[in-house]
Amino acid sequence: MSAENTSIDHLLDETRRFPPTADFAAAAVAGPDLYERADADREGFWAEQSRELLHWHTPFTQVLDWANPPFAKWFADGELNVAYNCLDHHVEAGNGDRVALLWEGEPGDERRITYAELTDEVRRLANVLADLGIGQGDRVAIYLPMIPEAVASMLAVARVGAIHSVIFGGFSADSLRSRIDDAGAKLVITADGGWRKGKVSPLKPAVDQALADRNGLGEQETVEHVLVVRRGENEIDWVADRDVWYHEVVPQASAEHEAQPFEAENPLFILYTSGTTGKPKGILHTSGGYLTQAAFTHRNVFDLHPESDVYWCTADIGWITGHTYVVYGPLANGATQVLYEGTPEHPEPGRWWDVIEKFGVTIFYTAPTAIRGFMKQGRQIPQARDLSSLRVLGSVGEPINPEAWIWYREIIGAGKTPIVDTWWQTETGAIMVSALPGVTETKPGSAQVPVPGISLDVVGEDGRHVGNGNGGLLVVTEPWPSMLRGIWGDPERFKETYWDKFSEQGYYFAGDGARLDEDGDIWLLGRVDDVMNVSGHRLSTAEIESSLVAHEATAEAAVVGAADETTGQAVVAYCVLKESYLKSHEDIENLAQDLRGWVADQIGAIARPREIYIVTELPKTRSGKIMRRLLRDVAEGREVGDTTTLADTMVMSTIQSKVTGRR
Ligand code: PRX
Repeated sequence: MSAENTSIDHLLDETRRFPPTADFAAAAVAGPDLYERADADREGFWAEQSRELLHWHTPFTQVLDWANPPFAKWFADGELNVAYNCLDHHVEAGNGDRVALLWEGEPGDERRITYAELTDEVRRLANVLADLGIGQGDRVAIYLPMIPEAVASMLAVARVGAIHSVIFGGFSADSLRSRIDDAGAKLVITADGGWRKGKVSPLKPAVDQALADRNGLGEQETVEHVLVVRRGENEIDWVADRDVWYHEVVPQASAEHEAQPFEAENPLFILYTSGTTGKPKGILHTSGGYLTQAAFTHRNVFDLHPESDVYWCTADIGWITGHTYVVYGPLANGATQVLYEGTPEHPEPGRWWDVIEKFGVTIFYTAPTAIRGFMKQGRQIPQARDLSSLRVLGSVGEPINPEAWIWYREIIGAGKTPIVDTWWQTETGAIMVSALPGVTETKPGSAQVPVPGISLDVVGEDGRHVGNGNGGLLVVTEPWPSMLRGIWGDPERFKETYWDKFSEQGYYFAGDGARLDEDGDIWLLGRVDDVMNVSGHRLSTAEIESSLVAHEATAEAAVVGAADETTGQAVVAYCVLKESYLKSHEDIENLAQDLRGWVADQIGAIARPREIYIVTELPKTRSGKIMRRLLRDVAEGREVGDTTTLADTMVMSTIQSKVTGRR
């Protein structure tokens, strides 16, 4: 707990406040009335938003069905087509010429795609999907770089009523395999490769590897086809009858495709995220409720004026932020947005600021890790660019420390833009806690208030409200439209993970610690479970531990998330080696390095531990439970906390001397 206590003390010193300016408030999309309307009739409010923001082929008459908690249904008797809402709807409203995507590739190539053009592409692709046998309920894995075809693929899958499972391009063949299997995907959409850090990073080979292993296992392969976008132009292997080039089939396909309506609860996507066990959870989202809250929050939290704003969310489509705030929210709202393929530091550290200047970005949404990285590089880099177009800045993924918040506002936002710190999760589907620009007086470091229509609380272990000035656990007290509908194929795990802890009260347990300040504003304090947050990405300690023990050298492993100045948390691992390995290998000098690479290969580069310490024993209680708290103390260079419950109290001093010796 000591790390958290330090951060609480630190946060309590923060007293700076930034009220909205009168000018901003006067032109803002959101007003205080939103809270009043939502408080007066929460379900009626969501119904009203849904009707206003979306096109329903069949209007709904029911709002929330909570007859079988925790399985919610929203707008259940209504029918809509998600892709139609994001595309044809705008074209039919006369906005077909509006640019949907301002795309920039890492090498500097550029494409501007209007709503009419994107609609055309998605219609053709939907016809191709149908030809490949994809229909309602089928699962399609998407493993693509940040190129317009990634957005088109998600929308085309949605258009035919199928379910996409986007897998972040940085994940390994193994991770891809387990996700394809869990969902039983019929089709994989990938690219030869994409540009990252000045070179082509291959993607198709990982798909080939994931699918090749299958035959030997004698299990049924569910994947029938692999649709391949040409992007990197790197050499790839080709499997006849299975692989199909995107450019050979999509432009030739018919652009006539009528979007069929599907029921509001038709599944839209599965997105895998790390939990407390080794197996990633397939978080399931459906259509009508999800799109309602995506569109509502995107419009009100970012103060979107679709006819004039240029919006940019830097998230990859492989994460929930990319789903809700690159694809569904902005496109449902008819926004014009930037899509950028590469990394922020290529060819040099100012690339993002160049993109903002070039496209005149007005709304910018990124993660604290990125902001802290830019702070390190120095203010002269952004200050050499014209960022005066920016008018709203957003933050997501992890707590933003007040220093980073102020730097963001001062250096990127010219000391005047509102900052919205948005708290939410893969599971919540859309933003749950945030200031509203033009309405809320902002506080650096606090995510602040539930968005209108959302009911949250901070409670103690007993489920009771903690009261202002106190810390506890963040819970959602009422069902919300974009809530997860379950874990793919595992309803029990869904109940256990999120609902069992406060089953008496019927609260959703988010897994985050939080504190209410004297005004009742929410300050997020990080995860309370064995989930780490590295650069705003969730990683499970158990998943990395099981990868480490799968290596021939390792007998036991313990992983902790240690505080890190830039990435928020960093993965630190402690490994005990097998006797047999030690006997047969004299030189273990490079083993820690090899193990780091092993984890990156097994899971993906984001999971690569910052440090691995080879130790002779792990600290355990008498009942054999690893005391990660103590390992975290060591990793963060702190005095080790209470060791009295350890079976062997000497273990920690041995570990500590090992670690300090290495520093
Ligand atoms: O711990 C919280 C943290 O990120 C977790 C959710 O991770 P993920 O599902 O990958 O979604 C990230 C993008 C929505 C949460 O449980 N988190 C997210 N946003 C914030 C945050 N912590 C503090 N402040 C935030 N604004």
